[in-house]
Amino acid sequence: MQIAIDGPAGAGKSTVAKAVAKRLGLFYLDTGAMYRVVAYKALNNKVNIQAEEEVERLAAETTVRFNHAQGDRVWCDGEDVTEKIRTPEVSRAVSVIAAYSKVRERLVAWQREEAKQGDVVMDGRDIGTQVLPQAELKIFLTASAEERAQRRWLELKAAGQEIPLIEIAKDMERRDRQDRERAVSPLKPAPDAVILDTTGLTVEQVISKIVTMAQEERR
Ligand code: DC
Repeated sequence: MQIAIDGPAGAGKSTVAKAVAKRLGLFYLDTGAMYRVVAYKALNNKVNIQAEEEVERLAAETTVRFNHAQGDRVWCDGEDVTEKIRTPEVSRAVSVIAAYSKVRERLVAWQREEAKQGDVVMDGRDIGTQVLPQAELKIFLTASAEERAQRRWLELKAAGQEIPLIEIAKDMERRDRQDRERAVSPLKPAPDAVILDTTGLTVEQVISKIVTMAQEERR
């Protein structure tokens, strides 16, 4: 079984996707983390992120690994970058590099390869439309802009990063616009996706809804 979960930043995709995968015994792949790793490495290696070819070259030389056994750690070329890829600097750089078609082609090919290993829940922006168009269940998660910013603020605070809510809201809006308006694989629901507005819902409610849909799909 393949489940695609797409949606804008802060809609709760990764929290929900992880929990759904665990409950249904599927493998989880965080595709946003892959784009973040490339952006992190570009910043770290002082590569000009506006230079598309340089970023493409860098992506070709990058290995991303996930370690689910050790609490979903993300590795870039042998370095544990789990926390480092979640900074506001990386968040800003990633929407620039995610618009590059060659970078996307490379990461999408890798994501499809991973999906061949077995049943999977994948979250991102283009999973239902590009990566796994044949997925049995496609969910497009949304929530109001205020609630999404609030959730991200709480998440960053819990990770020890105190960033003003207004800054997060502005950043998120700019990033969503970039994701929605880019020419290659823009953020949009697949025609057969279930649109799930999570405003006012608890994480548990969202997870149960998706698990129920997946179980119905399996029958
Ligand atoms: O889900 P996230 O915030 O970790 O994603 C980081 C960035 O990567 C975000 O700006 C959109 C981009 N992205 C994408 O273009 N396609 C994906 N499948 C996943 C993420």
